[in-house]
Amino acid sequence: MQACDVEVWPGELPPGRIDLVQKVAGVDGLLCLLTDKIDAEVLDAAGPQLKVVSNHAVGVDNIVLSDATERRIPVGNTPGILTDATADFAFALVMAAARRVTEAERYVRAGKWQTWGPSVLLGADFVGATLGLVGFGRIGRAVARRAVGFGMRVLYHDPGKTPEHGALPAASLDELLAESDFVSIHTPLTEQTRHLVDARFLAKMKPTAILVNTARGGVLNQVALYDALVAKRIFAAALDVTDPEPLPMDSPLLTLENCLIAPHIASASARTRDEMSRLAAENLLAGLRGERLPHCVNPQVYSAD
Ligand code: GLV
Repeated sequence: MQACDVEVWPGELPPGRIDLVQKVAGVDGLLCLLTDKIDAEVLDAAGPQLKVVSNHAVGVDNIVLSDATERRIPVGNTPGILTDATADFAFALVMAAARRVTEAERYVRAGKWQTWGPSVLLGADFVGATLGLVGFGRIGRAVARRAVGFGMRVLYHDPGKTPEHGALPAASLDELLAESDFVSIHTPLTEQTRHLVDARFLAKMKPTAILVNTARGGVLNQVALYDALVAKRIFAAALDVTDPEPLPMDSPLLTLENCLIAPHIASASARTRDEMSRLAAENLLAGLRGERLPHCVNPQVYSAD
């Protein structure tokens, strides 16, 4: 059964601002990607008939939620189904950075492999090492399960979670940074978490520690990270997210052997992306029917006043 007419942006790259504002005019529902900034201007350009915004992502920092809520427009996201894929990738980055996988591959391709040597490309161990999770929501907890399987000790810091949460020890941020051999970021990007990872944060990490970010690029101050990596104040970093995205090719981070960068693909497994599309469509269709979204990030829009 046909539920609605659909217009799909045909470009490989996201619509520019002018196209976005023009194309949304008159739509009843909007299914957007995390590359689309949705704010008052876009919502007003759509018009008063707009019933729903459905984000094809779990993170919604590309949407100014207060602008949508003020207009009583429900915003949907895709939680849960991407937890395992994202945690798998976060753990892949932990392992790749620790064992210098991408650096080793570049070494082979550059013709530098001359012999087996006892101290060639030495990396970090996992068993007995401490993994500190900054943010202990669904994805942080899934990373913890993987780390326990590798014989690691896990600490977490999450001001939103009670200490007994998940039977793992909560730590203050300072304790976590002082004790962790690996620090993995799993917080949403909010005004409180923007540039949480700054020079002071990095200075509190062990010089042998590895930083992994699969959350959002804006949580990290990239200038501070560059300085810390160059000065060897930490051992390595692995980032799936940067600010901006894509990372400009002249970014100094791309000159560093000890900084692995992936193009925001943590949830990019075939089944996960199918499921995300399905959930995003379900949210959109529910909104168009005037029903409550299965996954709504601003449920205040449903309250009476
Ligand atoms: C991906 O980054 C997402 O938020 O779904």
